[in-house]
Amino acid sequence: MTTTSQQTDQTTDPTTELIDLHPPAADMQQLVRIGLNRCPRQLPAWFLYDEEGSRLFDRICQLPEYSLTRTEIALLEARAPEIAAAIGDGVIIEFGAGSAKKVGPLLDAIHPAAYVALDISAEHLRKATTALQQSHPGVPMLGICCDHSTLTALPEHPLLRDQRRIGFFPGSSLGNFEQHDAVRVLRHFKQLLRGGPLLLGLDQPKSKIRLEAAYNDATGISADFARNLLHRLNADLGANFDPQCFAYQARWQADQQRVEMALISSCNQVVRIAGDRWTFECDEPLITEYSLKYSPERAVALAQQAGWRWVRRWHDPDDDLSLHLLEAPD
Ligand SMILES: C[S@@+](CC[C@H](N)C(=O)[O-])C[C@H]1O[C@@H](n2cnc3c(N)ncnc32)[C@H](O)[C@@H]1O
Repeated sequence: MTTTSQQTDQTTDPTTELIDLHPPAADMQQLVRIGLNRCPRQLPAWFLYDEEGSRLFDRICQLPEYSLTRTEIALLEARAPEIAAAIGDGVIIEFGAGSAKKVGPLLDAIHPAAYVALDISAEHLRKATTALQQSHPGVPMLGICCDHSTLTALPEHPLLRDQRRIGFFPGSSLGNFEQHDAVRVLRHFKQLLRGGPLLLGLDQPKSKIRLEAAYNDATGISADFARNLLHRLNADLGANFDPQCFAYQARWQADQQRVEMALISSCNQVVRIAGDRWTFECDEPLITEYSLKYSPERAVALAQQAGWRWVRRWHDPDDDLSLHLLEAPD
């Protein structure tokens, strides 16, 4: 984890400029205290994404069981000109960009004034934007490492000055927030985008068998991804979790229209984190993330609840997921 602000000069350094606003360790400790005092225990989903977490997520995206990434990329490639015409011009601001493998068709179709990628995982973000810069040398780029759900304003930067802002939030990452938080995050993005539109990718409900396989694959990468949360707490906050004393579970909860992912304590155990002691009972869950699924109707209602005007959606041939275009009301 890096916590210092850092800027690089693109004329002498091939890496893309990165502004690092990662929450400091003291804030992370406080979030861990709040999360472990909840019932059931739950940490913010962004804790899953240190450099190793981002690497493991990329492997998940390639799993046969996890079709979301392939489907969303194919949809963007097929519909980019139409989406570009509907969205208009400006700076593309991607929330939770990850490896930035989805924005390419939009860059090609929109020719934006700039591309600004936000993500919590600093080194992964630096590599992603640097690679994208090489394939799109004509688009000025900037990375901002931050928790986008609490960032009060985008930093002052020449690439953002006086530009119309176009938000892009793919990967169904909004589904990681419980519904009341999803409304808060969508309202918050509306402020950050200052009247600009938002292209929002949301996955839709599917069969229990399909969803549980997608989030608990046969080769165990999803389990490694979840357990990496404990490794990262050990590394960054001096905790002493034994990740092998937690079993991984992903359950579709139909009544809530979500997949719940959790690490289940396999024995009674005491864990130390930054001077605090936490008792985990045998079978007690620690929720690592949710993935809420939104039918098109629920997506419209969610957007409207957050003060957005829902304009239209694009979907794949099987209608598994949608890209929703939201605009700020006049
Ligand atoms: C589910 S992955 C999706 C990645 C990519 N957008 C895609 O569609 O494949 C979520 C991404 O958002 C980032 N992320 C999660 N929570 C975040 C937060 N609160 N603030 C900033 N980035 C976050 C993670 O590091 C990760 O790269």
